[in-house]
Amino acid sequence: MKSLKPISIYIHWPFCVSKCPYCDFNSHIQETVDHKKWGQALMVELEYLVNNYLIEDLNQYYLKSIFFGGGTPSLMKPFNIRKIIEKCKKHFLNKKYFQDIEVTMEANPSSIFNKNLKEFYYSGINRISIGVQSFNDDFLKFLGRNHNVFEAKKSIELSKETFENVSFDLIYALPEQSLKSWERSLLEAMAFDPEHLSLYQLTIEKGTVFNKNYINGSLVPIRDEKASKMYSLTDSITKQHKINSYEISNYSKKNKNCAHNLVYWKGGDWIGIGPGAISRFFYKNKRTQISIRKNPSNWLKSVIVQNHGISNIKFENKRDYCIEKILMGLRLTKGINIEKLKSVLRMDKIQTLIKNNNLILERQNLKTTFEGRLILNSILSEIIK
Ligand SMILES: C[S@@+](CC[C@H](N)C(=O)[O-])C[C@H]1O[C@@H](n2cnc3c(N)ncnc32)[C@H](O)[C@@H]1O
Ligand code: SF4
Repeated sequence: MKSLKPISIYIHWPFCVSKCPYCDFNSHIQETVDHKKWGQALMVELEYLVNNYLIEDLNQYYLKSIFFGGGTPSLMKPFNIRKIIEKCKKHFLNKKYFQDIEVTMEANPSSIFNKNLKEFYYSGINRISIGVQSFNDDFLKFLGRNHNVFEAKKSIELSKETFENVSFDLIYALPEQSLKSWERSLLEAMAFDPEHLSLYQLTIEKGTVFNKNYINGSLVPIRDEKASKMYSLTDSITKQHKINSYEISNYSKKNKNCAHNLVYWKGGDWIGIGPGAISRFFYKNKRTQISIRKNPSNWLKSVIVQNHGISNIKFENKRDYCIEKILMGLRLTKGINIEKLKSVLRMDKIQTLIKNNNLILERQNLKTTFEGRLILNSILSEIIK
């Protein structure tokens, strides 16, 4: 019997209580949201994508993961979460795999409390990823967050009481942040014994308030050397606590890496619904990328009228797919098998980077060294033909 392929489903909830000054995600503030209408529309779009693009291949797949991202999906009503999860499962009849489906919800500390956590759990969420961002009140203010350290810690404790699989995000390499302060935050993070951590260096994204401040000189990013030292510190403290790096910004206990995000990093197949979501899968043997319109009210109108909010469909050629695999796969600590990717790789550049201790090639497996991870973007721009 032919073995089944994994597929994942991403659901984008585009609303937040306030807009953080560093964030360029598709997130919006809207006074009132018609939850019933929104839940319905998300399910209609899912049905549309499945029925139009996957129906012929549906029996080749098993459902690997569901991810509610945002925005702030912890602002969703649990009844919508439950219905959407049921709808996702309905399409994949191979129940053998159902108990292993990873179902993650991103959550903001200010929108989780004991009661709704339990409701989310009973709706089918089995993994939670909390946007803690910092264990320092001054930095939380700087980041424009609407929670304080006490609330952040409480939200982790409550989540651990309800879920076996808890992850949280921290942002570091902030202006004026000292190595000592980051070390303290890391140790506080370790004290919660999390299954998984996403530890991001602050990036200044176009179109954000931080970018405006950077241009007018009121925000001065920390120097690269200091950021590198913070990255090394992160690596050694997480290692000491057996929460190992498996991706450039992601760390986990054994077998607790995020199955959903691994699908993106390994060039797997997924369906994305909701404003601004992207899908990538094989349709009629062609790697296909479907983009959904970003503006929430335009998206909703479009789904009501035509059952979907698709704004663009692109069929990728073999070269595009190889490049996607390299760009995403080299983020992984394990690296990638390059046997079928050589047509787009500059092997001469790879040899030089190996000599300079930035890359390692073992048989066909190419991966970055720790030093290489510090300069991943420049490596990627050098090695692709
Ligand atoms: C969609 S948000 C997570 C959920 C929720 N909206 C929240 O903020 O709590 C995804 C994560 O990306 C990270 N992030 C977003 N913008 C960033 C930036 N400019 N630099 C570094 N990390 C960023 C944050 O850690 C954030 O938690
Ligand atoms: S809460 Fe999360 S998604 Fe919303 S603006 Fe802040 S970082 Fe962006």
